[in-house]
Amino acid sequence: MKINKIYKGDCIEVINKNIDINSIPLIFADPPYNLSGSSLDLKNNTTGGAFYKVNEDWDTFDYGDYVKFTVNWLQAVHNILTANGSLYISCTQHNIGEILVKAKKLGFKLNNILTWYKVNAMPNITKRTYTHSTEFVCWFVKGKNWIFNYDEVKKFNPHKTKEGENKQMRDFLDFVKLPIVQGKERLRGENGRALHPTQKPEKLLELIIRASSNENDIVLDPFFGTGTTGVVAQRLNRNWIGIENNADYIKMAKKRLMIKE
Ligand SMILES: C[S@@+](CC[C@H](N)C(=O)[O-])C[C@H]1O[C@@H](n2cnc3c(N)ncnc32)[C@H](O)[C@@H]1O
Repeated sequence: MKINKIYKGDCIEVINKNIDINSIPLIFADPPYNLSGSSLDLKNNTTGGAFYKVNEDWDTFDYGDYVKFTVNWLQAVHNILTANGSLYISCTQHNIGEILVKAKKLGFKLNNILTWYKVNAMPNITKRTYTHSTEFVCWFVKGKNWIFNYDEVKKFNPHKTKEGENKQMRDFLDFVKLPIVQGKERLRGENGRALHPTQKPEKLLELIIRASSNENDIVLDPFFGTGTTGVVAQRLNRNWIGIENNADYIKMAKKRLMIKE
């Protein structure tokens, strides 16, 4: 298996063929959520397509197929995770139920569900439900002795002691306040539109990678997208492996990671 490389293809096939069993200490997975098809069109929005619209073929499944797909990729990542490894899965209300049930069935233990409060969430246009402003990251472990670098996590607490020291996490819980990626961090085309509908904030990945891995560890992302996991892992002196089946997204990730074609 090769590190610091993007594998092109279906993540289940790539993992089963190329990645060693029990070899990866940290996996961050941001899978399709199967929420496409029901988004609203907000004309003139330039951030993530119309209304950050996630309306992609790769995110559209028949429900039964989606459940099977979830089980299959969870099984594949379970095989390659080290005995003390951590699996973080990004999800929303659309798929958190399936993720929790199927991951537990495979023997994963749930350590936390981080709630990401999106401070710049989209407005509530229909006024028929509460405004959707959160996503979740489920942190699963396979066994005991998982890595949790508490002192690193404490640095994320915006509140400091009177002496300016990092405070305990009493006021920085399993709740992370971050904007949806905007500004310079957001990859955009010439027309100003976001190039990927679900680019994750680097800060979110920084928290996860600092908390649950050490320098030189390998961080694997089976749904690499624009390569956010690789970019942050590289910056934090971790090794990384990305898997992505969309050639356009791979191009973007390579550009971000300064990998020559
Ligand atoms: C939710 S996005 C991940 C976005 C990524 N976290 C980022 O920050 O850019 C999911 C990605 O998985 C890719 N994908 C979907 N199904 C896949 C599969 N079976 N194998 C590999 N990649 C897949 C999609 O092309 C998409 O880029």
